[in-house]
Amino acid sequence: MTTTYDATRPFAGQAAIVTGAASGIGQATLELLHAQGASVVAVDRQESVRALARPGVEPLVADIAREESAELAVRTALARYGRLDILVNNAGIIINKPVVDMTLDDWNGIQAVNSTGAFLFSREAMRAMVPAGRGAIVNVGSYACYQAFPTIAAYAASKGALAQLTRALSLEAIEHGIRVNAVGSGDVVTNITNHIHADGPKFLAEHGRNAPIRRAAEPSEIAEVIAFLASPKASYIVGAVVMADGGMSVALR
Ligand SMILES: NC(=O)c1ccc[n+]([C@@H]2O[C@H](COP(=O)([O-])OP(=O)(O)OC[C@H]3O[C@@H](n4cnc5c(N)ncnc54)[C@H](O)[C@@H]3O)[C@@H](O)[C@H]2O)c1
Repeated sequence: MTTTYDATRPFAGQAAIVTGAASGIGQATLELLHAQGASVVAVDRQESVRALARPGVEPLVADIAREESAELAVRTALARYGRLDILVNNAGIIINKPVVDMTLDDWNGIQAVNSTGAFLFSREAMRAMVPAGRGAIVNVGSYACYQAFPTIAAYAASKGALAQLTRALSLEAIEHGIRVNAVGSGDVVTNITNHIHADGPKFLAEHGRNAPIRRAAEPSEIAEVIAFLASPKASYIVGAVVMADGGMSVALR
C-alpha cells in the first residue's frame, strides 16, 4: 500500500503535546499543528484550556513544574492517540525584578517552569519516543537565551538553561532519531506580561519597536517556526536555537 503525503497536512496521523496552550504562542502552535493534521494534548495550568477541546485536541489542566504533570501528559497522548511524535515546551513565565529585590521563591518559581518544566516534559517524552525511534522536541526560548537587560536575571538564567538543555539533549536524542531544537523568540504580542503591565500586549507591541524590524511578532509567526522545526522539513537541524526575533540579536547598540 502506498501512503500519500499531503503537503498541507504534514502532521497527519501524528500526536503532539503543547504546553502553555491556553494563550499566546502556545495556542497559535496548537492551532497550526492541529490544522496541519496533528492530534494535540493541550496542557495549561489555566482552566480556560478546556474550551479548546474538540476532535484531535485533548485539554489537560496541569502545572508543568510538577513531575506528575509530564507523566500524565505523555500517558494521555499514548492512551488517546497511541503515539507521541512532537513535544513543544512552550509554557513560560517572567518577572521583572532587580536581583537585590528578588526572593528565593521568585527565582525558584521562574526556573521551575521555564527550565525544570521543559526538562520534566522532555524526559517523559523521550521515554515514549526512544522506543519508536523518532520524534521532535521544540523548546520555546527567547532572545534572553543569549541577551539580557536589567531586571530579567531570573528569566534570562532560565532561558539560558533552556538553550543548553536543548543542545545537550539534542546529542542524546539524535542517537534515537529524535531532533531537539529551540526557537529564540523576540517580543510577541501575548499575555505574558499581564501581571506586570496594565496592558501587557500593548507593552510588548511597543517594546517590539526596539527590534530592527520595528515591531513585535504575532504569535502565529513564532508558531510557524515551531511547526517547521517539528516537521521533516527541518530534518538536518539538530540542537539549534533558531532566532525569530526581528533582528534583535543581530544589532549592536
Ligand atoms: N511574548 C513574548 O514577548 C516572548 C518573548 C520571548 C519568549 N517568549 C516565550 O514564549 C513562551 C510562551 O509565552 P507567551 O508569550 O505565549 O505567554 P502567555 O502568557 O500568553 O502564554 C503562556 C501560557 O503558559 C501557561 N503557563 C504558565 N506557567 C505554566 C505552568 N506552570 N504550567 C502550565 N501552564 C503554564 C499560561 O497559563 C499561559 O496560558 C514562553 O516560554 C515565553 O518565555 C515570549
